[in-house]
Amino acid sequence: MMPNTCLNNIPSVLQTFDHDDFFARRCIWVHGPVIVGAGPSGLAVGAGLKKQGVPFIILERANCIASLWQNHTYDRLKLHLPKQFCQLPNFPFPEDFPEYPTKRQFITYLESYAKHFDISPHFNETVQSAKYDETFGLWRVKTIRENSSNSNLIGDDQVEYICRWLVVATGENAEKVVPEFEGFEQFGGHVIHVCDYKSGKRYGGKRVLVVGCGNSGMEVSLDLCNHEAEPSMVVRNSVHVLPREVMGKSTFELAVLLMKWLPLWLVDKILLILAWLILGNVEKYGLRRPSIGPLQLKNSAGKTPVLDIGALQKIRSGEVKVVPGVKRFFPGRVELVNGDDIEIDSVILATGYRSNVPSWLKENDFFSQDGIPKNPFPNGWKGKAGLYAVGFTRRGLSGASLDAISVAHDISMSWKEETKQRKKSIAASHRRCISHF
Ligand SMILES: Cc1cc2nc3c(=O)[nH]c(=O)nc-3n(C[C@H](O)[C@H](O)[C@H](O)COP(=O)(O)OP(=O)(O)OC[C@H]3O[C@@H](n4cnc5c(N)ncnc54)[C@H](O)[C@@H]3O)c2cc1C
Ligand SMILES: NC(=O)c1ccc[n+]([C@@H]2O[C@H](COP(=O)([O-])OP(=O)(O)OC[C@H]3O[C@@H](n4cnc5c(N)ncnc54)[C@H](OP(=O)(O)O)[C@@H]3O)[C@@H](O)[C@H]2O)c1
Repeated sequence: MMPNTCLNNIPSVLQTFDHDDFFARRCIWVHGPVIVGAGPSGLAVGAGLKKQGVPFIILERANCIASLWQNHTYDRLKLHLPKQFCQLPNFPFPEDFPEYPTKRQFITYLESYAKHFDISPHFNETVQSAKYDETFGLWRVKTIRENSSNSNLIGDDQVEYICRWLVVATGENAEKVVPEFEGFEQFGGHVIHVCDYKSGKRYGGKRVLVVGCGNSGMEVSLDLCNHEAEPSMVVRNSVHVLPREVMGKSTFELAVLLMKWLPLWLVDKILLILAWLILGNVEKYGLRRPSIGPLQLKNSAGKTPVLDIGALQKIRSGEVKVVPGVKRFFPGRVELVNGDDIEIDSVILATGYRSNVPSWLKENDFFSQDGIPKNPFPNGWKGKAGLYAVGFTRRGLSGASLDAISVAHDISMSWKEETKQRKKSIAASHRRCISHF
């Protein structure tokens, strides 16, 4: 039996449950937006909606807020950008936080943020699909809930949420990228993706191949050195390495300032000159620079420059070896594309992340195949039919905050308008039914 609900007479969250069918998918009407993801982006939208008095729910697959930060980042992680670029709307970092807060401090801040705005996501609830129903002008969001303690059901519990607005806040880093390598299954050593790396403690004395030279690959290589391991870092392509600071000022902050007055290409030139003065010629260590500047590359290809926090010194000293791309693996060793063959004990894949939106959102107008909105920043936050995206600007936390402000404002206006109309139509006793859901 399917639930019988009426659009014009619906309490904030109307639940119907078919007790005859033990495994029936429950159907829940949400009198406001459904937000998918309880990371910084989802929380920031929730905070904006709370301020406007708009009801919403947040669905989160993990058992906590900010699961990327809590469960999938390494111990020594700090924010790379100064704190003023990382705080969420309407709630500044505590004054005593350092310029670059630690991961623990950032998580504490996010927990206070959720508490301050009284945000309680539905945890352990993974969105499996979301589809717009043209006939009714509503989103249908199907989830699976794992062993929920407040569920009467044993095992998994399936729910369908129905709503007018859908906010996608599942992040650019929702899934790990695991490349395929010839012979990898025969390697036999310990292999992890960097999302499961905590510290170099267990790697003391080990020869570790770190695949990838983004911010993760560089920092993990540094951490491995600090734990007496022997990292070889795979750099298969060109990469921009910049100093985190220039004369005590954040390079990022400097770039933001310069961009107010100068064109991007000129800011890039200035950054590269400063990088050369501070870091020297990094090409002689195997870190070839791309032909276009760091900001232009970020804008055109979404590739983040590496902000050096000490790995370069380890590369100079030879403690981190830079090696070219992987050709194939053998038991206990790897052959590189230049023909070198090195013995290794472990592999850490610092090969990046990707969005998971295409796997669950049944829509291909607003999002591209790689799960990022087609319209570039600053126009990628609003789709059609009440669809929104937050946190896909490739501009980290500051981009997510800007999106969140726009999205919360837009939904609030639309929610208030529709609520007014609904009150009028209730007065006229006009009811539209969605009983066949
Ligand atoms: C190691 C690392 C360090 C970083 N450091 C910085 C930094 O210093 N500064 C900066 O600005 N950015 C940094 N970033 C980028 C980072 O992704 C953002 O800062 C921030 O986490 C983005 O927030 P978000 O909410 O958009 O995405 P996320 O934090 O990834 O949150 C998305 C949430 O959605 C949930 N989710 C995903 N799919 C589903 C589903 N189908 N159903 C339900 N829930 C789902 C996830 O579990 C997750 O909790 C870093 C990223 C990494 C990997
Ligand atoms: N403290 C911080 O703020 C901090 C720390 C870590 C990460 N982050 C952020 O987190 C996000 C993810 O960073 P990330 O470093 O994990 O990922 P990333 O920036 O996407 O880098 C992935 C790296 O893996 C390489 N790679 C991918 N497949 C490969 C293969 N088959 N063989 C060899 N190399 C391969 C890529 O090389 P190509 O370039 O050739 O593809 C690239 O160097 C970024 O936004 C980053 O800024 C922030």
